[in-house]
Amino acid sequence: MSQAATRRVLSGIQPTADSFHLGNYLGALRQWVALQDSYETFYCVVDLHAITVPTEPADLRRRSRRAAAQLVAMGVDPARSALFVQSHVPEHAELAWVLGCLTGFGEANQMTQFKDKSAKQGTAAASVGLFTYPILQAADILLYSPPPGAGELLVPVGEDQRQHLELSRTLAQRFNHRYGETFVLPDAHIPKATAKITDLQEPTAKMSKSSSTPQGIIDVLDEPGVARRKIMRAITDTGTEVTADEQNKPGVTNLLRIFSALAGEPIEDLERRYAGTGYGQFKKDLAQLTVDTLAPIRERTEKLLADDDQLDRILGQGAERASAVATRTMAIVRDRVGFVGRG
Ligand code: TYM
Repeated sequence: MSQAATRRVLSGIQPTADSFHLGNYLGALRQWVALQDSYETFYCVVDLHAITVPTEPADLRRRSRRAAAQLVAMGVDPARSALFVQSHVPEHAELAWVLGCLTGFGEANQMTQFKDKSAKQGTAAASVGLFTYPILQAADILLYSPPPGAGELLVPVGEDQRQHLELSRTLAQRFNHRYGETFVLPDAHIPKATAKITDLQEPTAKMSKSSSTPQGIIDVLDEPGVARRKIMRAITDTGTEVTADEQNKPGVTNLLRIFSALAGEPIEDLERRYAGTGYGQFKKDLAQLTVDTLAPIRERTEKLLADDDQLDRILGQGAERASAVATRTMAIVRDRVGFVGRG
């Protein structure tokens, strides 16, 4: 790769709750922060995705700002990253249309997240937007593609997004094949240790905004006492040994993964430290570590939320930087697809 290679990162998060949770933080957002050191980074609050399920306008507006505030509080640096709201850059929706026209109905129908999310009310009641959701996600990603052969495009996400990432690679490839080399194929960045943080009450299921009970989920903005209680009451498994064993001890294994990620210590070291101590001390220490990690994020978020104007300025600047790239990509796409240029 030449020295002038453009190394970009793009990722997104839905503003569908008042707080992000520990799964978002460990699975994705910590990587967002770390990658700022070596990549040109674009981070997007995906409000268009949020309306694929019924959403109150006031909730959406509040949660979009809360999302941005939490990201900055976690270390997304607006001076280095373009932090923006998806609906501010209309090219996302425009490219999604073009990519939708390259996606087979049967292919879209393979997406397991649609099946999961529409299972409750049935597919007939689900929106078409929910069905085409992964195509919009592919557009989010590919808009920020460097020219092919001149760079890379990395997408830090949790394991649950792997299939969507595969679709975005397929669509990039198909577009390139049909219209000429336009996009690099994006690479998923899914560190294994934190790829799937699970529910504290149901440790074989993903920790999730939509399906976890409040006791199963640690919110980034939980009051310290609340977070502590949730960890102390987390389901542990039969036996007393603090050892990782996915099959037989999914609860303890999940807590060990969280501990290891927060402390930056290998799981084996933790197993050694807690050999023979039982679950109590281990949970107490994990609760303290969690509170110590989240408290400063919560404080910074509250400060940022006290000044809407400043937050909106940050998002305005982010949208400007994102737009500069997105409009360039879209101009190339329009031309390649054969749309007549505007005179
Ligand atoms: P969302 O908003 O559900 O989640 C944001 C990020 O958090 C990760 N994540 C987890 N990681 C580990 N363990 C968990 N329990 C856990 N729960 C959530 C998700 O994998 C994700 O990385 N479709 C995306 C949003 C999106 C996007 C994009 C992502 C839209 N456009 C473009 C990347 C690139 C979503 O719903 O994430």
